[in-house]
Amino acid sequence: MKKLMAVLQGHSVNPPPLWLMRQAGRYLPEYRAIREKAPNFIQFCLTPDMAVPVTLQPIHRFDFDAAIIFADILLIPHALGQRVEFLKGEGPQLTPLDANPQHWRLAYDDKKIMPVFESLLAVRQQLSPEKTLIGFAGAPFTVACYMVDGHSKNKFEKTMQWAQHQPHVLDDLLNMLADVTALYLIAQLKNGADVVQLFESWAGLLAHDAAAFERFVIKPTQKIVSIVRHHKPDAAIIGFPRLAHERLEDFVAQTGVNAVGLSSDVPSLVVEKLCGKFPLQGWLPPEVLVQGGQALQDNVNHILDTMRGKPHIFNLGHGITPETPIEHVQQLVKQVREFS
Ligand code: CP3
Repeated sequence: MKKLMAVLQGHSVNPPPLWLMRQAGRYLPEYRAIREKAPNFIQFCLTPDMAVPVTLQPIHRFDFDAAIIFADILLIPHALGQRVEFLKGEGPQLTPLDANPQHWRLAYDDKKIMPVFESLLAVRQQLSPEKTLIGFAGAPFTVACYMVDGHSKNKFEKTMQWAQHQPHVLDDLLNMLADVTALYLIAQLKNGADVVQLFESWAGLLAHDAAAFERFVIKPTQKIVSIVRHHKPDAAIIGFPRLAHERLEDFVAQTGVNAVGLSSDVPSLVVEKLCGKFPLQGWLPPEVLVQGGQALQDNVNHILDTMRGKPHIFNLGHGITPETPIEHVQQLVKQVREFS
C-alpha cells in the first residue's frame, strides 16, 4: 500500500509520508543542468525526455514518498491558446484578457499538452510501486489571476477589480476553467497519476470576504471535484488554498477534497483544531528549510508532535526556494524518517 494514499483515505501513518512542493527545481544542480538545455520553460515541461528525468531526480536523491509530475499550472492557459511566456528572472507573462468574454477566443486543445500525459505514463513505469505519483493543476481562481492580469507584479489588481465590479465576467472565466481543468485532471488520473493536487496559490486574496471566497474559490473547486468524481468516483484530490486559514474548514466541507495543504501562516491553534478532522499536508515554512540547524529541527519536531496519530503528509507550506541547501533537505528527510 502506498503510504501517501493511505493517509488520503484517513489513516495515520508513522512516520508520515514526505514530499516537498516544487521538489524538482533550481536548488538541485541536476535540475539546472537539464534546464539549461531547454529552449524555454513551456517546452521544458512539454518534452518528456526532460520532464521525466527531472520528475524523478528528487526521488533518486532523497527517496521521497511521492513524485509530482514536472509541469506548470500555466499549461492550461497555453492549451487554451493564450500566449504564455516565462522570461528569465521575470516570472510568467501572458497576454492579458479583457473584460469582454466575446474577445477571448479561448478553446481548449489538449493536443497542445499531450506530452504531460506521456510523461506521466513514463514516470509511473519507472517509479517503484510503493511511491505515489501526483498530478496537479492550478485551481481556477489562481489561473484566472494570471490570465486576467498577465503577470503577478500588482497583486492581481485587475482580477480583484473584476471580482468586485464585474463578478459575472469572472464567473464565466472560472466556470470555463473548472470544466477544462476537470478534463485535464481526469486525463492525468487515467495516465498514471494516483492523486491530483489543486494549487490555489492566491486564495488568500479573497479570504477576508466569505461570500467572494465561496463564489470564486469554493464553487469552481467544488465543480472540478464533482466532475472528476463523476468520471472517477474514487479519485483522490488534495486542495491547497494558500493563505486562507480562516476558510480551510469550509473549503474542505464544501469542496469534498480528501485533504488540504496548510500554508505556513496557519496558526498552531487552528492546526490543532483541524488535525484529525481530515488529512492535512504541509505547514513547514520554506525559509526554515533554508535556515537549517536547530530552527529546522525544532520546527519539524513541533509539526510531527502536533500531527502525531493523525492523518498527515509531511510537506512545506509553499514551494522549496532555489537557495535551499541540499544538506538541509537531507537533514529534514532523516529527521522525519527517524520519528516514532
Ligand atoms: O512541485 C513540483 O516540483 C512540480 C512542478 C511545479 C512547477 N510549478 C514547476 C516550476 C508545480 C507544482 C508548479 C506550480 C505553480 N506554477 C504554481 C502554484 C504553486 C505556487 O508556487 O504557488 C504557480 C503559481 C505557478 C506559476 C509559476 N511557474 C511561476 C509564478 C513561476 C516563476 C517563479 C519561479 O519560481 O521562477 C513558474 C516557473 C516554474 N514552475 C519553475 C518551476 C520549477 C521555475 C522555472 C525555472 O526553472 O526557471
